[in-house]
Amino acid sequence: SLPSVLGNSEDNSKSVAVENCAGINWDELGFNPVPTDFMYVMKCAKGEKFSEGSLIPYGNIEISPFAVILNYGQGIFEGLKAYRTEDGCILLFRPEENAQRMKIGADRLCMPSPSIDQFVAAVKQTVLANKRWVPPPGKGSLYIRPLLMGTGASLNLSPAPEYTLLIYCSPVTNYHKGSLNLKVESKFYRAISGTGGTGGIKSVTNYAPVYAASIEAKASGFSDVLFLDSATGKNIEEVSACNVFVVKGNAICTPATNGAILPGITRKSIIEIALDMGYQVTERAISVEEMLDADEVFCTGTAVVVNSVSSVTYKETRTEYKTGPETLSQKLRKTLVGIQTGCIEDTKGWTVRI
Ligand code: COI
Repeated sequence: SLPSVLGNSEDNSKSVAVENCAGINWDELGFNPVPTDFMYVMKCAKGEKFSEGSLIPYGNIEISPFAVILNYGQGIFEGLKAYRTEDGCILLFRPEENAQRMKIGADRLCMPSPSIDQFVAAVKQTVLANKRWVPPPGKGSLYIRPLLMGTGASLNLSPAPEYTLLIYCSPVTNYHKGSLNLKVESKFYRAISGTGGTGGIKSVTNYAPVYAASIEAKASGFSDVLFLDSATGKNIEEVSACNVFVVKGNAICTPATNGAILPGITRKSIIEIALDMGYQVTERAISVEEMLDADEVFCTGTAVVVNSVSSVTYKETRTEYKTGPETLSQKLRKTLVGIQTGCIEDTKGWTVRI
């Protein structure tokens, strides 16, 4: 029954033995969906508030063909990770930030959203119900995917009459294999520039439009694409699934969140860690030329964590950057992952022990 699977949070904070892990080969994890035991579901009608949700066995869902998410894209998602610590606890990283971002996205798409407390409590329950799927230390993490969608039916273009928050998860390791060889994309854009679009929220509609550019780049041997701003085509914005940073000497820059850039939680955390380390960090517009002149380029994201960019190709010219363990990006990555996994003391209150 569910209660015995869940236990209570006090018991869990003491110790979760690694032997409690699922019997899978942790060395073969990638970034693919692995079915786990439970998922969380909470529903609410248009104009009402989310009130009560529950865990149900993980599995397919039933949905109206007229559901607004399927037809008109009324949906947003989040991504966060749970890590197992050396002493057998489970840590979440800044889940209230995801809750806050979901709220902003929901407002933009005219959806009700769970409160911060409801969101965090639901994420905790989902992780505890699936705790045997949290990989042992050093083997990866449990990636948690909260999805808020208009599940009610509508044929006319109006907000759905019913909403569903689903939270499901999968054990994962690194999103990318090795550092990135990026191509600057000149045909397609990820988001429209400025504050009027949806580039700054995790709308489901922001993701599939990346495929055309990304598939073409991968067919030419690149790891992925780097998108430019749609207004001028001069400034860098994001890689398909992550934010981007450039380093020159002691100065670190990342595109400002101007409405088109996703305000990444890893992005925000890396800015703070870099400032603490004494680097100068600026959020502003960055031209392609400035990036090509940088010492180092790196990407951040929940799935990606922090990854070095080894080269950027712009109009047939390839520029190479520093990679390897001595780079600033790897130093930042080590600190971030150290905090996330409980190996480095969390002086900022970022981690939530469950
Ligand atoms: C994440 O990093 O959590 C994301 O949502 C990006 C996704 C494309 C994997």
